[in-house]
Parts: sequence; C-alpha cells; structure tokens
Amino acid sequence: MLMEWKNLIVVRRMTRNDLPIIAEIAHRAFRNGPDSYWAVIGAKRAQRTFVAEMNNKVVGVIEIEIVNLSVGRQGHVGYIFVDPNYQRRGIGTKLLITAENFFKEKGAKASWALTSPENIAAQRLFEKNGYRRVFLKELFQMLPVKDAEKLLRRMVYWEGDIIYHKPL
Ligand SMILES: CC(C)(COP(=O)(O)OP(=O)(O)OC[C@H]1O[C@@H](n2cnc3c(N)ncnc32)[C@H](O)[C@@H]1OP(=O)(O)O)[C@@H](O)C(=O)NCCC(=O)NCCS
Repeated sequence: MLMEWKNLIVVRRMTRNDLPIIAEIAHRAFRNGPDSYWAVIGAKRAQRTFVAEMNNKVVGVIEIEIVNLSVGRQGHVGYIFVDPNYQRRGIGTKLLITAENFFKEKGAKASWALTSPENIAAQRLFEKNGYRRVFLKELFQMLPVKDAEKLLRRMVYWEGDIIYHKPL
C-alpha cells in the first residue's frame, strides 16, 4: 500500500537527549549566525519545545510559549528550524500546526510570530498557514499599550521585523 510520506513525520516533545542533534541542525539551518546559538538556548528555555522526526531522526524544531496579556492568553512561536536536507517537505508546517493545537489547548486566542524582512522562507511558511502581517501601528490598535509592549518584548522585536498574527 502506498503511504503519503508526510504521514511519516512524527512530532513529539523534546528531551535533553535531543540537544546535540538540535544544536547540529540549528548550526546548519541558521548557517552559524547568532540565531544558531540562541536557538539552542531557546530549546532549553522555551515553555514547550517540539521536535519533528522522520525515520526516528530529529529533522525539525519549534520553540513556543504562552504569553499572558490582559486581553487573554496569546501563543508565541519562537524559533522554528528544519534540517536543510529536509526542508520544503511540510515539516515546518506540521510543527506550526502542532504549536497552534498546543496554544488552543491552553486557551490562547491567537498565535504570533516574528521574522526578519530577509527571511522569505519563513514569511511564506507563515503566510501559507494563514498568518497575516501586522504593522506596528496596527498592533497598538489591536492591543492595549501595555499588552503590545509586553508581546514585542517576548518576541524580541527589532525595528523592521515582520510581525505575523493568526486568530485561533
Ligand atoms: C522556515 C523553515 C522553518 C520552513 O520549514 P520547511 O519545513 O521547509 O517548511 P514547509 O515545507 O512546511 O514549507 C511551507 C511553505 O513555505 C514556503 N517555503 C518554505 N521554504 C521556502 C523557501 N526556501 N523559499 C520559498 N518558499 C519557501 C513554501 O510556500 C512552502 O510550501 P510549498 O513547499 O508547498 O511551496 C525553514 O526554511 C528553515 O528552517 N529555515 C532556516 C531557519 C529559519 O530561518 N527559521 C525561521 C525563523 S526562526
């Protein structure tokens, strides 16, 4: 019987044993830039880190958290990265869907993410999965000032970054 190969991607919680392979993937996915370092720290510190496996091999990572705002809980997608040899096979999408399900289980009303303007792959990933770009001015119209500031701090917003939002 033919099996859809996307069904062979298994997503599970990270364990400490995954850290060496996570570091290795981060170095290749972020090409040794500063993010390759921070993504490994983030994997340990995030409220929840999920890994995607194919054939029992870790090939992708997503680091997420719930941010408590006065308007209610929000999901924040931190680092998401996939082994370059396994990109464009739906692994990023599967990790994102897992994160959104986690957010919904925890009662979050929306998912938020940040990308740099040069990161076309990440922008397409979010847009293809129903995320909409929110400009800074709009963010401050959507949320009370204190909430907007807290969210920007949690996302480590840097001038020019692209903010993405998806209601859940
Ligand atoms: C962003 C990233 C996680 C996407 O992971 P992925 O497993 O390739 O994502 P998917 O296969 O689910 O792709 C979903 C869609 O995103 C778009 N996309 C993904 N990679 C792309 C690329 N290199 N160029 C253009 N579009 C791309 C496509 O529209 C794709 O759908 P399609 O293949 O059906 O056309 C991956 O490119 C990556 O690890 N990049 C380096 C790390 C990074 O920059 N992370 C994001 C910031 S934390």
